[in-house]
Amino acid sequence: MLPFIERFLHRLDYLAAIPDRGWVDRGPGSPERFQMLPQAKALLEQAARERPIVLHGIGLSICSAEFFDEGYARNLADWADRLNSPWISDHLSFSRVGTGHEVNAAITLPVPYDLEVLDLLVPRVRFFTDASRRPFLLENNVYYFRYAGQEFTEEEFLNQLCRRSACGVLLDLHNLYTNAVNHGFRANDYLDHLDLANVVEIHIAGGRPMMGFHTDSHTGPVLDDVWVLLEHTIPRTKHLRGVTFEFHESSFALLGESGILEQIDRARAIVSACGVGPEA
Ligand SMILES: [Fe+2]
Repeated sequence: MLPFIERFLHRLDYLAAIPDRGWVDRGPGSPERFQMLPQAKALLEQAARERPIVLHGIGLSICSAEFFDEGYARNLADWADRLNSPWISDHLSFSRVGTGHEVNAAITLPVPYDLEVLDLLVPRVRFFTDASRRPFLLENNVYYFRYAGQEFTEEEFLNQLCRRSACGVLLDLHNLYTNAVNHGFRANDYLDHLDLANVVEIHIAGGRPMMGFHTDSHTGPVLDDVWVLLEHTIPRTKHLRGVTFEFHESSFALLGESGILEQIDRARAIVSACGVGPEA
């Protein structure tokens, strides 16, 4: 993606970066645990001089029952400081399990939406917002199974979490679409019950059906149904600061440079039509 960013950064309002791709993590307790990769460091620092960089982590695993990785959280906060990131986000899920011998599930797993998990998350969000001194958002995750007997729906859980902590919401409309298709509910019902005042960033992306599921594969352009959800959602938000087009680097060739810019321009046109400027 380096050449694309170098050529077209001026066409973007901001850049969302996965910081975990830019460093080597030798694991909790290791001396000099995090080593930033020189090329990624140079790219991020250069880009940050021209555009805001928001950090979208994939390694905090904030919902792990057994531990909260304060070292990881502090490293993320340090990088947000260095890049002057306006906000940081990660996922409402977990991927790291176990104490002592930690195992990475290599996929983000859903959590049961109940009081126990809520009580676990509130102090962790507070720790993170205190350490980073900037907004922290959690993203509604895609899930391919659901726990039985949950106390809250996902939207109620997010409303409660934001009420009890300083957490904001990163609303991924393709994740929502994927879950609605796979689990048979209406995405608009979800949006009716989610407190959209907590939404700071929106993700849009492409995906495709596979083996009876719709998958959150981030391949290709944004689906028509997701564009409709975006048009529906934006006017109902109060504190939205960005709409991010997500795509997997393996679909870069499929989209092409012009295909990516088309998605961004279309999103920007929808935002503008709703009376929100790119700098808002
Ligand atoms: Fe996302």
